[in-house]
Amino acid sequence: MADRIVMEVARYRPETDSEPVLQPYDVPLTREWAVLDGLNYIKDRLDGTLSFRWSCRMGICGSCGMTVNGEPKLACATFLVDYLPGPVRVEPMRNFPVIRDLVVDISDFMTKLPRVKPWIIRENDEPAEDDEYRQTPAELDEFKQFSMCINCMLCYSACPVYALDPDFLGPAAIALAQRYNLDSRDEGEEDRRDVLAAADGAWACTYVGECSVACPKGVDPAGAIQRYKLTAATHSVKSLLLPRAAR
Ligand code: SF4
Ligand code: FES
Repeated sequence: MADRIVMEVARYRPETDSEPVLQPYDVPLTREWAVLDGLNYIKDRLDGTLSFRWSCRMGICGSCGMTVNGEPKLACATFLVDYLPGPVRVEPMRNFPVIRDLVVDISDFMTKLPRVKPWIIRENDEPAEDDEYRQTPAELDEFKQFSMCINCMLCYSACPVYALDPDFLGPAAIALAQRYNLDSRDEGEEDRRDVLAAADGAWACTYVGECSVACPKGVDPAGAIQRYKLTAATHSVKSLLLPRAAR
């Protein structure tokens, strides 16, 4: 196995640079090194001005999303040996404004997320009689997959609809809404409906499915969106056919 690899890393300061350039760095290689280890080597030993985000180094915090050889990836869970003989290209996530180098501005998502009310809503918020809202394993399974989201934004970076229409609510926000809609303790599906069933909500998704391919946690946001479309369509049919009390 080669003991070095060239990493071509996007460098860009929007205030002073007209466009990003790829800067090559020669880094040592071991079988265990992730792209993030290579970036930290560059920052520590070669060029302290390189900017990128990371925190947990174990696929949990969701802060190290980047584009590696053209694909949305977590830098801490993507291994350099898989890109031999190199070079491996590291760029910021697509579909987000670049603040500097590999750091992007995700404030659009941070604005959209609270619109879907990603918390448990109950009509009566008194505690249950025995102080617990119990769930069966089957009830947990209904939403557990969607609760695995780490807000890494790789699904937005992969989504061609979001690339064309920045108003699209987007995969993770809809998956996180479904995390609560499908929770047996929640009574807030109606409160989320205006946002989710709007033209730039679930219906804007054309089911390309790239979000689910990119997701490192198996959330399947594309599946969440299609499932919500069924809920919204069922509600529309019921509202046409049934009196309000029977819906
Ligand atoms: S759905 Fe997956 S890809 Fe999208 S933000 Fe959540 S964990 Fe990341
Ligand atoms: S550093 Fe936390 S997910 Fe990669």
